[in-house]
Amino acid sequence: MEPTEVRRALVVGAGVMGHSIAQVFAQAGIEVALVDNDKDVLTKAKRHIKLNLETLAEFGYVDINEVDAISGRIYTTRDIIDAAVNIDFVVEAVSEVPEVKKAVFEKLDEALPDNTVIASNTSGIDIFSAIDLDIKKPERLIVAHWFAPPHIIPLVEVVPGPFTAPDTIYLTENLMKHLGKKPVVMLQFTRSFIVNKIQNNIALAVFDLLENGWATPEDIDLAVKTSLGIRLPIVGVAQTLDFTGLDLVYDVIKSYGMENKFIGEKVENGHYGAKSSKGMYDYGGRSEEEILKKRDRLYLKMLELLEEIDAFEPV
Ligand SMILES: NC(=O)c1ccc[n+]([C@@H]2O[C@H](COP(=O)([O-])OP(=O)(O)OC[C@H]3O[C@@H](n4cnc5c(N)ncnc54)[C@H](O)[C@@H]3O)[C@@H](O)[C@H]2O)c1
Repeated sequence: MEPTEVRRALVVGAGVMGHSIAQVFAQAGIEVALVDNDKDVLTKAKRHIKLNLETLAEFGYVDINEVDAISGRIYTTRDIIDAAVNIDFVVEAVSEVPEVKKAVFEKLDEALPDNTVIASNTSGIDIFSAIDLDIKKPERLIVAHWFAPPHIIPLVEVVPGPFTAPDTIYLTENLMKHLGKKPVVMLQFTRSFIVNKIQNNIALAVFDLLENGWATPEDIDLAVKTSLGIRLPIVGVAQTLDFTGLDLVYDVIKSYGMENKFIGEKVENGHYGAKSSKGMYDYGGRSEEEILKKRDRLYLKMLELLEEIDAFEPV
C-alpha cells in the first residue's frame, strides 16, 4: 500500500500522545477513529485538538478556517472492535503497561483487515518478544515512536521487529513522511531506541553531577546550552566526533580503559573525521577547510538565533 492510499486511520489511546497523533493524521486529510476506554479522556482530547490547531494556526502551520474541518475528521469512540472496520493504518498509544498493550494488539489482530499495519508508540516495551503475543499476523506489527507533542516534534523512530514485513516498514516510513514527519528507521530493535537511550544517559550524568555536589542545575544548563546547545542542531551527536577527531576520541576511550571496535576500525583505516574527509561521515573528498567553513557558518547562524531569543537565560 502507498501512503496516499491511507484514507482511514485508527488511533487507540487518546491521552497525552494519542489525541495529538490523531490530529496529525486529520491534518493530512485522513479520517481518524480515536478510541479510548475513558470517555472523559475522549472529551478532553477533542478540546485539546482544537486548542492545538489554533496554536498551530497562530504560527501559520494550519489555516484557521480549516480548524473545524480538521477536527471534524476525528471521530471518537470507546468501541475498538467497531472502530477497526475498514481501517488502513493503526497507531497504538495506550498506557505503557505490557498486559494492556498485549490485549489491545490481540483484539486488533482479530478485528482488522488482514494487511492493516499496527504501529505501536511504546517507549521501550519489547512488544515483539517480551509480551508473549498471540497474533496471527506478526508481520504487520512495528514500532513508530513519536515525541511529545506529536503535532510539533518532527521525529518518529520507526523500529521493525524480527517478523516485521518489508511492506510494513515501507508503509510506516513513507506514511510518516506523508504526514510531514521525519522518520528514522532503525536497523534493529533495541530498548529505548535512539533518542531515549541518549537522553537517559544524559539524565544519569546530570544526577551524578548533582548527587556529588559538583555543579548546580543552573550551572549544568548554562554549560550545556552555551556549548552542545549550539553544536547539537548542526552536527548532532555522531558527526560532532568527526570534528573532535576520531583518533583523539579513540585515545580518550582507551584512557578510560575501554575499547570500541567501531571507532578503532575507523582510526586503523585513517578515517579520522573532517581532517581526512572521512570518519563517521564520508565528506566525498571535500577539503577540511571547506567542511569547517560550512560548519562555522551554520554555528554562527545558530549562535545569532539563540542570542536573539535569549536562549541562554532560563525559561
Ligand atoms: N507521554 C510521552 O511523552 C510519550 C512519548 C512517547 C511515547 N509515549 C508512549 O505512548 C503511549 C501512551 O502514552 P501517553 O503518555 O499518551 O499515556 P496516557 O496515559 O496519557 O494515555 C494512555 C491512554 O490509553 C487509554 N487506555 C488504556 N487502556 C486502553 C484500552 N485497552 N483501550 C483503549 N484505551 C486504553 C487510557 O485511558 C489513556 O487515556 C505509551 O506507550 C507511552 O510510553 C509517551
